[in-house]
Amino acid sequence: MKKRLAWMALVLASGAGIVMACDFSDENPGTSSGNSGRSPDGSVSSGSGGGSSGLQPSSALCEKVGGAAAVKDVGLQVVSKLELDCRVGAHITLLSANSRAHFEQCFGNQLTEFLGCPGAKYAGSVDAKGQACRGMGQAHQNMTLRDADFKVYLQTTVDVLKTKGLTDEDLAPVVGAVNGTYGAVVKVQNPEYHSKCTCPNDKIPGTDKACNVPAVVNDAGVDAPADAPADAPSEGG
Ligand code: HEM
Repeated sequence: MKKRLAWMALVLASGAGIVMACDFSDENPGTSSGNSGRSPDGSVSSGSGGGSSGLQPSSALCEKVGGAAAVKDVGLQVVSKLELDCRVGAHITLLSANSRAHFEQCFGNQLTEFLGCPGAKYAGSVDAKGQACRGMGQAHQNMTLRDADFKVYLQTTVDVLKTKGLTDEDLAPVVGAVNGTYGAVVKVQNPEYHSKCTCPNDKIPGTDKACNVPAVVNDAGVDAPADAPADAPSEGG
């Protein structure tokens, strides 16, 4: 209960309309917010952006996971888990080996900042080949990601971090930081459907809910004449 209250406090403290989980076991956590003083590109914006939650990551989190190298490894593990998740995995399986490695390494870099590893900064960081890690808007611009995709990504990140011994309380600033990227990552705020779901029978596992946006049936309408002449006068005109 105490933890729930702490989560709710974070939700209230941190701005408008972004996803966050009060209980991380929820598959589709409730909608809330979390800019936590970060720019949408995922780097700390030192106090700007409504970061009044006071929940700044401390290097203790990074240490708890095992240091920067261990945190970077979390990035790798998260991406591997996401790949196996039929709700979102297709975004990852279509990447070239190069792009995949870049993604994993840059996400690892970002996590080192989110977990307060000493000196870590996402903006300006590079992958192992020296290729610059991009801002969140640019990296996700062509992906039409949805609210539901974001929740899976966040939940998976939380799940992996929990296996490293982090508690809900530890995770609050990390969740806030991930939520701070929402506006740059999510293009369609539809809480129900995924953008590239490959789950069997197009159902969200364990539910009877459609996973992809149901196809729009292009029904001309019962009373629309099947072959109205092209030059038929339009209504009102
Ligand atoms: C939840 C918040 C998210 C964060 C913090 C995040 C973080 C990142 C980072 C750091 C990168 C590397 C940037 C670069 O390419 O230089 C990246 C790229 C990428 N992300 Fe996300 N991401 C998020 C949501 C998602 C979601 C929901 C998906 C879909 C499953 C996704 C899939 C990808 C893919 C496929 C790339 C590689 C893009 C490319 O190389 O063109 N991300 N993300």
